[in-house]
Order: sequence, then C-alpha cells, then structure tokens
Amino acid sequence: MANVAVVGAQWGDEGKGKIVDWLCERADMVVRFQGGHNAGHTLVIDGKIYKLALLPSGVVRPGKMAIIGNGVVVDPWALVGEIERVAQQGLKITPENLRVADNASLILPLHRDLDAYREDTNKGIKIGTTRRGIGPAYEDKVGRRAIRVCDLADAGVLEQKVEGLLAHHNALRRGLGRDEIDGGQLLAELKAIAPRILPFMDQSWKLIDEARKSGQRILFEGAQAFLLDIDHGTYPYVTSSNTVAAQAATGSGTGMRGVGYVLGIAKAYTTRVGGGPFPTELEDEVGRGLLARGNEYGTNTGRPRRCGWFDAVLVRQAITIGGIDGIALTKLDVLDGMKEVRICTGYRLGTTSLDRFPAGMAEQGRVEPVYETLPGWTQSTRGARSFAELPAEAIKYVRRVEELIGAPVALLSTSPEREDTILMRDPFRD
Ligand code: IMP
Repeated sequence: MANVAVVGAQWGDEGKGKIVDWLCERADMVVRFQGGHNAGHTLVIDGKIYKLALLPSGVVRPGKMAIIGNGVVVDPWALVGEIERVAQQGLKITPENLRVADNASLILPLHRDLDAYREDTNKGIKIGTTRRGIGPAYEDKVGRRAIRVCDLADAGVLEQKVEGLLAHHNALRRGLGRDEIDGGQLLAELKAIAPRILPFMDQSWKLIDEARKSGQRILFEGAQAFLLDIDHGTYPYVTSSNTVAAQAATGSGTGMRGVGYVLGIAKAYTTRVGGGPFPTELEDEVGRGLLARGNEYGTNTGRPRRCGWFDAVLVRQAITIGGIDGIALTKLDVLDGMKEVRICTGYRLGTTSLDRFPAGMAEQGRVEPVYETLPGWTQSTRGARSFAELPAEAIKYVRRVEELIGAPVALLSTSPEREDTILMRDPFRD
C-alpha cells in the first residue's frame, strides 16, 4: 500500500509523534486531517526535542510536503507562533514545505475564550479540554457560520462573515452576561494576520491527488485518539472531531481508497488526560510508578496524565470500529522491572460480564475491569532494536496483547529515540 494513516488507539499521547516521524522518512507528504493545536506531538531527533501542536510532523524532515487539511481547525495566531517557535530551533517553514487547506475553518480568540469560560463555569460535566477553542470552532463549522482560511483573502466576505458570526456569539455572550465582541476589532485582527497565512493557502485535495497520481507516498497523521472520537469515544468526554482513520479521507479531500494501511498507536499501558471514565485507572503506587517512569505529563498543558493497565477491550474496539490493520505498541520499557503486569480482558457491570465497552456515560463509569495477570520482567527493554533482544516475558506480553486485540503488532517502540524501534511489518508495504 502506498499510503499509511496513523491514528491513536487509546486516549491520545500514545507516542504518535515518534512513529509518524519514523514513517515520515519513507513518505513524501504528511497530512493532518482533524483536530487543531490541541494535539501535542513530541519528536526527539538526535537528542533535540521538538514539540509540535498544529504543524504536521513532516516539517522536521527536509524535502517533505506538510499539509494541514480541511478537517483541521486552524488558529492562525497559534500557527504563526508555532512557525516562529520552530524557526528558533532551525526549522524553516515556507510554502515549499507547508500548505494549509483553503477550506479549513478558523479558531478565533472568541472560541478560546468560550472554551475556557465553559471549563471554568460548567458545574455539571467537566470535560477538561485543552482550552484551545477546538470545540467551539467545530460548533461554528457545523453551524455553517465559521470563517474559513479562504475568507482571509476577501475583505468583503470576511466582513460579512464576522458580522454573521458575531450575531450568534454576541447573543450567546449577552445571555451569559459577558462583554460583547467588537466586530471592527476582530476584523482588524483577522486582516492583520491574513498576510502571514495566505502564502500557505492551497487546494490541499488537489495537491494530495497529484501526489497520489505521481506515485508519492502519503502519511496521514491523526491527532487525539479513538476514545476521544466524537461518535465512538467516551462521549461527552471527547474531542470535537472524528479521530478514526475514515476521517483522513474527508478531512483531507481524498477518496477512501487513498488512505491505505491504518496503523493504530497504543501504549503498552493506558493513560488519559482530562475527565471521563477510565476503567483500568490505577490511583495507587503502581499508577504513580507508570506516571513517573513514563513521564506522563501533557506536552502542551503540562497536566499529569491518569495512568492504568492496558485495556484490551478498548483497543479491540478501536481496531474494529477504526479499521486498524496493525498496531504500533509504544513505551513497553515503562513496564520494565514490574513483578507482574496486568491486561484487562473484559468488564463486569453488576452481575453481567461484558466483552465490549458500553455507550452510556453511566455504564462506562461503572464497569469494573476483569484482569489477566502475566509475569513481569526485570531485564531492561529500553532501547531494544530487535525482537530477539527482548526478555521472554516481554515477548509473551506482546503476543498476548496481539491475541486479545485481534491485530498484529507491526511496530514496537522501546524509547523516545526514533532508532529504538522494532519493525515487525512494514506498514508502507503491507
Ligand atoms: P479538546 O480537544 O481541547 O476540546 O479537549 C477534549 C478532550 O480531549 C479533553 O479530555 C482533552 O484532554 C483531550 N485531548 C485533546 N487533545 C488531546 C491530545 O492531543 N492528547 C490527549 N488528549 C487530548
């Protein structure tokens, strides 16, 4: 298969950045297709750490075209800020290596403000968003009042759109007892940022089509993960986009067959940031050990992540619904030195046994994990570059995970360094 889509198979932060970067070497084009700068992708190259939020990971490799597709919500100020930030690390971002879809929707300061306001005042469900304005921006997109990248090129349309958008937002703000947004000021801010964005604007679907026709390899880079999917995740504790690989087609403007092999990324254990159900969460020494050894702190927000055992039920569901062909299992080394390791193989809900994760919020919060316990390993797996180097117990663990989730482990990552990766199947060839 010429193309590969990389998607998270848990709650995000599975180490997609490293795997995408690893696969990038063999790709010509890297495409983001959903989410925004709520994503935090950490890349470690020759000991240098790059933290990307909105830019596709391909920008760190020379000669690759990076595309921000139409399914992404773009905060123009965040994009310019990120371009300036990575420039200080020596990465030059120009229209030669980055294009932004003309039909992508914008995140505005009023979206960020609304996101933060809801997080601070919501007395019921606390989502624990990244406060980047992602949800409110997607709401305006489906509400058909969003300002899109192409609108920045037309002052008349921009003015009309700002007026229409504020008719909605100022009514909402009045109802909440908040100050109204000044249309003239927003318009001026958009006009000021437009010249920094417009050089990157393109019809990304056409670039992707041309790349496909000339036999180039495309890597579709997912953000967030399956359990944060707006339809299939732990709703309402989710992000506001579809995170499954099917979105790679609609979010970039290519047909379904253009997506190719779907590689799901899963950690050898489970983490989650923000609120919501998490059946295998460990609020004890074992969980704190995973947090410390795995350095489980948010790339963007610095929040400590909740940690727990590997949940095979959830990953199996991600594989089935998300059409995942193979898994990249990351951070196996974080389990090194544990006396025993556990895998969740099913749930109990009262007196009922379940082999799937229910849809209802209350049920999701009530399920109790059923575990299988495997012996741990004392030997270090950190930095292993072949399967043969792994201790027998670690191999057994990986094989058992494969059996339980119903998909092969195609890649195994044993440290943040890109070279510390064991390739079991080549996603670009499979
Ligand atoms: P939002 O995407 O900022 O609206 O946040 C919604 C939920 O998705 C919250 O639980 C966030 O913590 C989570 N989330 C968003 N982006 C990421 C990510 O890149 N990694 C992990 N969790 C994320």
